[in-house]
Amino acid sequence: MHITIVGSGYVGLVAGACFADMGHQVILVDNDQQKLDALNKGQVPIHEKFLPELLDRHRGRSLTFSDDLRSAVQASAAVFIAVGTPPTEQGEADLSYVESVARIIPSAINSYKVVVEKSTVPVYTSDWIRKIILRNAAPPDSFDVASNPEFLREGTAVTDFLYPDRIVVGADTERCASILRAIYAPLTDGSYYQRQDAIPRPDRAQTPPPLIITSTKSAELIKHACNAFLAMKISFINAVASMCESVGANVQQVCQGIGSDSRIGPRFLNPGIGYGGSCFPKDLMAFRAVARECGYEFRLLDEVMRINEDQRRRFVRKVHDALWTLRGKRLGVLGLAFKGGTDDIRESPAVLLVQTLLQEGCKIAAYDPAANERAREVLNASIEYAADAYEAASGADALLILTEWEEFASLDLDRLHQQLKYPIVIDGRNLYDPGTMAARGFTYYSVGRPVATSETLPLQEGAGAKKAIRS
Ligand code: UGA
Repeated sequence: MHITIVGSGYVGLVAGACFADMGHQVILVDNDQQKLDALNKGQVPIHEKFLPELLDRHRGRSLTFSDDLRSAVQASAAVFIAVGTPPTEQGEADLSYVESVARIIPSAINSYKVVVEKSTVPVYTSDWIRKIILRNAAPPDSFDVASNPEFLREGTAVTDFLYPDRIVVGADTERCASILRAIYAPLTDGSYYQRQDAIPRPDRAQTPPPLIITSTKSAELIKHACNAFLAMKISFINAVASMCESVGANVQQVCQGIGSDSRIGPRFLNPGIGYGGSCFPKDLMAFRAVARECGYEFRLLDEVMRINEDQRRRFVRKVHDALWTLRGKRLGVLGLAFKGGTDDIRESPAVLLVQTLLQEGCKIAAYDPAANERAREVLNASIEYAADAYEAASGADALLILTEWEEFASLDLDRLHQQLKYPIVIDGRNLYDPGTMAARGFTYYSVGRPVATSETLPLQEGAGAKKAIRS
């Protein structure tokens, strides 16, 4: 199939590379010439596993880059709109980029086209796109508008795209649905997974994925409802973690107990410092705003957002509990990205916490395996940027873990102990076992679990662990 994707941001670039890998001919259109030049030169603008391989494989062959939307639309059966939908000051999604693309499409319609919303957009957007295309003189039967929400996560975007739990297609005519079925056929008929050069299957992936056909409005709602539900799951467990802290229970044990109920499931039940990123915060506000506009007060979402913000305040309180006054204290910070596996710092709770701690007068040395450079654009010289975790910890009054990078979960604890001025670790991502940390001589604060110090060690555990350290 010949496909145009408009917008070479996160979703557009990953979708373009993956569609090309599925055997389609893809034109990726953007109006940012610098971005296009960089892509043509072989640069990869985002940190995403397998993306460099896919771009190398298809660049200049089945994946080309262009600033000419009209020619691209003329050459394609389907046009995916993957432009940005940033929040307005009121929290609504700004759809002006979507509208400007929709205005250009009619002048390029030379045969039946399917116009597909791929960006996260509020319900009714497909109706508006249709109206705009008609208003600009396209014959009503020369196109359809479909919604094909994307569920990929940053850091695992390529495998999420090629090994999805499901593919959702919102299409109001059979003609339109059949084109989207054909586009996804290499995944849904399993042929992609038979190929020797297919991107490797992640654990847990079930293939082939089901394709769910719905109305366009339902598909639009599915995307917002899905992100809102996941954010709610995180806020729920963060609220339970606060309860655990109040009564001295252990949230990890509670998670195991509730997550093993198959109706609830264990995923997205990790408590921490709250969710961030370019999706959940923005999408929750947009979903809240569109619900209100449609006459429904979705107050549950307000509470999800409130708990999320509170989680950062609670963390700062923990730093106070550990260090008493903060002015002049030196803190080592591990993690600036909004989650592990990415260099993205948009709405990162780690960066927001660093800013708060700076306001409290702390001195900060931070290390992130991928996001130091991006963070520098926001935090400038207000903090020191360390070359590794141990340098960040060097001479610090306490070490804060703010992002769930895998490498932060396997640090050399003895070396860390030596680097720190005081052996205090405040872990916002629960990467360590409190008993182990206490046995290694740390005072260890985490989320929803009792504070662990060598004094809190159960006798046997303490004795055994000390013996182990001596040997
Ligand atoms: C999210 C969704 O997971 C994707 O399905 C969706 O396609 C995407 O938004 C989008 O709308 O484009 P993403 O923002 O990449 O993906 O990141 P997640 O892995 O969902 O994490 C979001 C935040 O929640 C991070 O700050 C993470 O640290 C936090 N989180 C996640 C927790 O605090 N606890 C958890 O158990 C899981």
